[in-house]
Amino acid sequence: MFSYSQNDFYCEHVALADLAHQVGTPAYVYSATAILDNYRAYATAFGDLPHTVCYAVKANSSLGVLSLLAKAGAGFDIVSGGELFRVLRAGGDPGKVVFSGVGKTRDEVDYALRSGIHSFNCESEAELALIDALAARLGAKVGFSIRVNPDVDAVTHPYISTGLSQHKFGIAIADAEAVYQRSRQYRSLAAEGVSCHIGSQILDPSPLIEALDKVLALAARLREQGHPIRHLDLGGGLGVAYHEGEKAPDIAAYVECLRSRVRESGLAVMVEPGRSIVGPAGVLLTRVLYRKRNGAKEFIVVDAAMNDLIRPSLYRAHHEIVPLRRTPLPPVKADVVGPVCETGDFLARDREMPNAMPGDYLAVRTAGAYGFVLSSNYNSRPRAPEVLVEGDTWRVIREREVYEDLIRGESL
Ligand code: LLP
Repeated sequence: MFSYSQNDFYCEHVALADLAHQVGTPAYVYSATAILDNYRAYATAFGDLPHTVCYAVKANSSLGVLSLLAKAGAGFDIVSGGELFRVLRAGGDPGKVVFSGVGKTRDEVDYALRSGIHSFNCESEAELALIDALAARLGAKVGFSIRVNPDVDAVTHPYISTGLSQHKFGIAIADAEAVYQRSRQYRSLAAEGVSCHIGSQILDPSPLIEALDKVLALAARLREQGHPIRHLDLGGGLGVAYHEGEKAPDIAAYVECLRSRVRESGLAVMVEPGRSIVGPAGVLLTRVLYRKRNGAKEFIVVDAAMNDLIRPSLYRAHHEIVPLRRTPLPPVKADVVGPVCETGDFLARDREMPNAMPGDYLAVRTAGAYGFVLSSNYNSRPRAPEVLVEGDTWRVIREREVYEDLIRGESL
């Protein structure tokens, strides 16, 4: 959905230099078609196997994006009351919402129960007890899955690997049967599923399949013991291509692999993809402010910073950076840095870059997931706007913040 026509970089049929000129920079831009194509790649590949694709809201929680997915029939994976609020505001169906996370508060659980969500992915026995008590008060009965920790190495960045026994997530798979057994005491809970999520940005899906096989075997044992297990929730995690020429796993092939393994069991499948739906569907537009050289180093100073996109600083993540208008100048080896007062504020380091001059626009690619959502007001920088492109039209789905927004709720 992002490509050059002549020398101009387009999102669908919109020339991004024109859009940047009108909306200003920095700005996030998403392709509605790309988001829907990625969502449908999951939904279609499941075919007649009962399934729900619960988009992981944390990857990009803008109302405009959520509403697009809600209309397409998506479910949602939430990790906070705030995410539930957004999903409901965007028109999402609470009956297709699963609530994940290791630290759900009493208020959040209560809000989710009152909203009639589908189920909870529980991470401790204390959490089960809390949900049961609050559900009993409402006279409700709610489904739950234990999020098991399958002790499988996701082979990804250590900060986003979650499925090893040393991590805070889930309940050790070896202890899970005993926990399901003890959960029989809870009259307002029904053990309807088993869930797991082993990490994010996984480029080789074999650990995901290894985790699936473990969870499938557990579900079979639980059913033999009389637990009414109906679904498996396999979490998210499928990676995307951040480097030019890199190959990301194919969504349909991955789902086909899940399908063939689960089909015999009669279980329904849920997945919680975030990055693979929105990541490649977004770019961050920025403008060159200055060029400077310090000793041997060349710097391209742009108007987007680590407060807008923290992934390079936080995870040393790579994002391709391309010009919105190709120049005939030869490329230059440079750091692309923002205005924030930290050496850690960079978007690229020692990289062959388009020889962009002050006033030129650049696009930081594959920024649709964990981009805007992780942005902040550090250095009192108003947060960037978000724009949704559909065909040859676009609209601002979140306005650029203004200085007044920076001090909202504060007092002297
Ligand atoms: N389900 C659960 C329970 C999760 O914790 C996550 C992501 C997902 C689903 C979605 O995973 P995905 O399909 O997006 O890989 N900020 C980091 C990524 C953190 C991921 C946290 N959990 C980054 O920018 O790389």
